[in-house]
Amino acid sequence: MNIPHFIIPDLRTDHAGETGAVNIYKGILFVSKNKEIIKFAQSHLKTEKKHLELIEQILPNDERSKLLFLWKFLGFLTGLIPALAGKKLIYATIYFVESFVEKHYEEQIIKLRKKSKQEELIKLLEKLKNDEISHKQESVQRFGKLSFLLKVWGNIVEMGSKTAVMISYKI
Ligand SMILES: [Fe+2]
Ligand SMILES: [Fe+2]
Repeated sequence: MNIPHFIIPDLRTDHAGETGAVNIYKGILFVSKNKEIIKFAQSHLKTEKKHLELIEQILPNDERSKLLFLWKFLGFLTGLIPALAGKKLIYATIYFVESFVEKHYEEQIIKLRKKSKQEELIKLLEKLKNDEISHKQESVQRFGKLSFLLKVWGNIVEMGSKTAVMISYKI
């Protein structure tokens, strides 16, 4: 696939993000004993591993974030913490993360459309985005209404994701 230079930093953030996503589910699976959660996390983990592979195929090795250890660790905590608190928080966390990632992929698709002739890459990002949307929809049905505390946690997750994108865009 022909990858234009201007999109490389964005793909680095995607690679960092999918690395984080894989580790979110590893964090959940590390502590959860709930059958429903385990099934949910295992199936999402499979998809996120696939996403990571797809990005690895198009992002040159030396363009990856130098802080992957950090994205792994923070991803793991983003799964582990809610998994210690319970089901509702796990589903809400996935909802917040995926809502963020959906927008993140959409911004790149818009950027690529403006520059023309990137149909293959756009198609790939559309596929990733659609998977994240179905992950989001799957979780939103399961936690019901957002309480005040869930909203606070959602803000933390969103701010953390934004910061991680800003940093991995550069390094
Ligand atoms: Fe993903
Ligand atoms: Fe996802």
